[in-house]
Parts: sequence; C-alpha cells; structure tokens
Amino acid sequence: MRKPILAGNWKMNKTRDEAIHFALTVEPNLPKEGMEAVICAPAIILRDLVKRCEVIHVGAQNMNENVSGAYTGEISPVMLKDTKVEYVILGHSERRAYYNETDEKINAKIARALEYDLKPIVCVGEVLEERENGTTNDVLKRQVTKAFEGIVIANPENVVIAYEPVWAIGTGKSASSEQAEEACKFIRSVLADIYGEEVSNEIRILYGGSVNVKNVEELMSMPDIDGGLVGGASLKEADFVTLCKACVE
Ligand code: PGA
Repeated sequence: MRKPILAGNWKMNKTRDEAIHFALTVEPNLPKEGMEAVICAPAIILRDLVKRCEVIHVGAQNMNENVSGAYTGEISPVMLKDTKVEYVILGHSERRAYYNETDEKINAKIARALEYDLKPIVCVGEVLEERENGTTNDVLKRQVTKAFEGIVIANPENVVIAYEPVWAIGTGKSASSEQAEEACKFIRSVLADIYGEEVSNEIRILYGGSVNVKNVEELMSMPDIDGGLVGGASLKEADFVTLCKACVE
C-alpha cells in the first residue's frame, strides 16, 4: 500500500545540460508504475528539469523556512512552488553538520513545506559514535519527535522520512539490511506514538547511505523500508534505472 520511492540526491553535482541529458536517457527505461522515481537537483536547474521530466518527480535539496525577506542566498517555499517541484529534502545530515541546521529549524521547515504543499523528505540518522555507544534509538526518537512537534499530518502519503546513518553516507559502508530495517521500524513506532498506527503505516520511510546496485535489492526487501535516498549511485544513468527497478521487484 505504500508506494516505494527511489529518490536521487544529486547534492552539488550536475549542470543543467547534464541533468537534462540524464532525464532524457533514463526516462524511457524507468518502471511505468509501482514506484516513484524522484530527483532532488540543485535549485538553479529545477525549473528546466521539471519542464523536461515526464516520469521523474522533481525535488529540491533544501528550503528556507521563511516565505520571503532579507535572507541572502536562500530559497523560499514560494519560489520552489513557482518552479513546480513536488518534493524537498529537509534536514539532510550535511545541512545539519555544515550549515548548523537544528531540530528546531528543521521543524519550522517541515511546517512551512506542508503549508505550501511541498512533500518533505525528512532526514534523520545517528553518527558513528552514537551507533557505537548504543544511543541510536534515542537520537532517532529525538530527531523525529522534534522534527514533527506541533505538526498536523493531513496526508500521510505526502510525508517521507529518510533514515540515513551519517556513518554510511558517502563512505561506501552501507548499514546492513537488518540494521536499516531495525531503525526504520523503530522510526515507524515513534510516528505511531505521535500520530497513531494508521498514519504511521502510510508514511514512507526510506533508507539512505551508500545504497548501490549491489545492495539495493536486499535493502528494498525489508518490510519497513519503502525505498531509498541515494547520493553517489544516483548520478549514473544506468545505476539510477537499476535502483528504480529494484523498488518494484
Ligand atoms: P550516498 O548519499 O548514497 O552517496 O551515501 C546518500 C545521501 O546523502 O542522501
């Protein structure tokens, strides 16, 4: 009942021409149904990408929580709506680590995204030290609870969470499918405490962190993993198609 999502997080990669070439190359080969392929691209190419994509759903990688004003260099939800993007990644660990995004700020961004009908892909995940000292669940519970504090979820199918252990991002060292499942299942239980079972069973939870063509099938076979948020492997056309196909098999 939860439609799988394979979301590529391109980070600070690809020019407009490269992105359009990518879209035109992969679109004919993507599954026609049973999953959603999403590309979260750099803001400056979103408009052109949206225009060229017929199958791929397009998302941004960040958004300011304010609607307009004196925030040099930032992009507002109104601007994202204007480009007709559907998704927005919020609270990615790189934003938390390099741009000091706090749980409170991420909470404000989620509220604003939902207000403007943008579908948030909310990232949570522990760092290596937290995994090693056994506090993973405490961290996940804090991040999820604070992210959704005071937020009413009217359409659970429009809210996506990505479990991304920080130690697995860009390291080539993916969580095992058991570790990923355990964390995604725990996140769903935290959501159930806040919103009830019915809502929590409709929210899609993705795994992210060194997903590749070799480990994708096993990760996607887990019951609480509803897709992937993929960085490095989403940059290659052939790999992106393989990852998307693995979501429907
Ligand atoms: P990775 O990145 O797939 O390159 O590990 C994942 C992410 O940062 O979302």
